[in-house]
Amino acid sequence: MAHPSIVILTGAGISAESGLGTFRDEGGLWAQHRIEDVATPEGFARNPQLVVDFYNARRAQAATATPNAGHVALARLQAEHQGDVTLVTQNVDDLHEKAGSSDVIHMHGALNSALCRACDHRWPAPLEMRVGGVCPSCAAPRARPDIVWFGEIPYHMERIERALAAADIFAAIGTSGNVYPAAGFVQMATHIGAKTVEMNLDPGETVALFEDTRPGKASQTVPAWVDEILG
Ligand code: OAD
Repeated sequence: MAHPSIVILTGAGISAESGLGTFRDEGGLWAQHRIEDVATPEGFARNPQLVVDFYNARRAQAATATPNAGHVALARLQAEHQGDVTLVTQNVDDLHEKAGSSDVIHMHGALNSALCRACDHRWPAPLEMRVGGVCPSCAAPRARPDIVWFGEIPYHMERIERALAAADIFAAIGTSGNVYPAAGFVQMATHIGAKTVEMNLDPGETVALFEDTRPGKASQTVPAWVDEILG
């Protein structure tokens, strides 16, 4: 096929070599924090300070992180591939953008965005958000991190599903396949006959569903895969 349509899903593993911890690897974020406390609407209602502090710390860390060869290779694929390339990430960091990618679909939200719980307005988050931050649009003191928490619906699902329905190739990179709906994308892609490839350090939960699996570090596997696609 001359110009295949490609859908890429990235997860925390692609940012690991940039110094940002993953969630479920040994010593990962979910070994240090309880999901119920920092990544649910109920946790935010109980203790907003704890949640705001958690994301402030992650925002500060992401602000100084730099993209690695995996992010750079995907930006090159977007720039040079003649077919469609849809880049979907579960990551809330901006390392794809820092590497030069554009139109990145952040299905789990973004650290650099704030969301008003009163009017749904979004604006660039300050490095240090605070509890009761005021919305610049409606003036309600109801700012929250613009992160999709457990129990909330991921963003841009219609657009992602449209891209998957037209995909010739689906690649999942650095994601453990634990969190739906993202973990189900491989089945959707397989169903319409796309080629599927997983690039992970350790095999993900859904590894058996992929046609092609390439174990290893994203900084090595992703540039090699991009070279193959670009010929
Ligand atoms: P996980 O922490 O669950 O999985 C990270 C994956 O990256 C694992 O499969 C690792 O083997 C792999 N990995 C680690 N280092 C790597 C490297 N250098 N190169 C390639 N792969 C590497 O992270 P996600 O799957 O992204 O959601 O987690 C999905 C969602 O769960 C997150 O978006 C977050 C979390 O709870 C919310 O907070 C809503």
